Amino acid sequence: MKLKFLAAVLAIGVSAQASAQSPIVIKFSHVVAPDTPKGQAAERFKQLAEKFTNGRVKVEVYPNSLLYKDNDEMEALLLGAVQMLAPSLAKFGRLGVREFEAFDLPYIFPSKTALYNVTEGDIGKGLLKKLESRGITGLAYWDNGFKIMSANKPIHHPTDVKGLKMRIQLSSVLEVQMRALGAYPQVLAFSEVTQALKTGVVDGTENPPSNMYTQKMHEVQKHVTVTNHGYLGYAVIVHKKFWDGLPADIRSALEKAMKEATTFEKAIAQRDNDAALEAIRKSGKTEVYLPGVKEQAEWRRMLMPVQKEMEGRIGKELISAINKETA
Ligand code: LMR
Repeated sequence: MKLKFLAAVLAIGVSAQASAQSPIVIKFSHVVAPDTPKGQAAERFKQLAEKFTNGRVKVEVYPNSLLYKDNDEMEALLLGAVQMLAPSLAKFGRLGVREFEAFDLPYIFPSKTALYNVTEGDIGKGLLKKLESRGITGLAYWDNGFKIMSANKPIHHPTDVKGLKMRIQLSSVLEVQMRALGAYPQVLAFSEVTQALKTGVVDGTENPPSNMYTQKMHEVQKHVTVTNHGYLGYAVIVHKKFWDGLPADIRSALEKAMKEATTFEKAIAQRDNDAALEAIRKSGKTEVYLPGVKEQAEWRRMLMPVQKEMEGRIGKELISAINKETA
């Protein structure tokens, strides 16, 4: 792996010294399918970036963990092997910026409007700023959706998850969340989840419908419950040195491309998740369960204490500020 990085870094060094005519290459690596909200927005950014810079920038999009899995994509960015990523907000804890795990707290966002109040307001901007000390510039928040839960047995009540091995992203909040349900959380890279569900390495998982459907998780899970218990979204990031070193006109063209790609992404995220849930239902392979009012209250009762439990890690002030912003 290290050799792979080294080769990429050397290649980048060479391309930086190339003639004025050769385009600046931005390798944009991500772990989801091209037909997810993130995958489509990455493509949209590519088109706009190449158009707005008149071809002086070339964006190469690598979806589906083709280049790096989520375990090593951050390292790849910091080493200059890729220039752009859009990891889920859950995955920033590994950089030591624990505050991002606030996005994983159960029921922290009652709606998408509440979420945008945070991501587009001072809280969101302040969180992106925190990445700078790690050598990273945060360019935008991209949306995905609220998570559903899956298993091979009906999970109508939160107690139905008890004793199951549940795949999670690497996030302390998600670990505590699964433990609150009496489940056994297991961290796995996104690219490994469908196979792990198929072979029984894990019994179930959580993700927005767009991720479940495009990874065919529904083909190996007999039941999903539309719990909407938590949120999954992204921060689009670049290596700060690379970004600051770009000619100013190029950087502003890329900022414009990112702004338009972000507007596009936000417009398609909910629609695509609704369509994915419908496609899961229509596949006939998975029973899609919508919890009733009483069951929703049960899920909430089991999971809300996680907010309090994680105050020590994430910061009481930040959690209260988000709750105030979203009230
Ligand atoms: C996951 O690992 O479940 C997600 O973060 C994947 C993604 O990027 O949406």
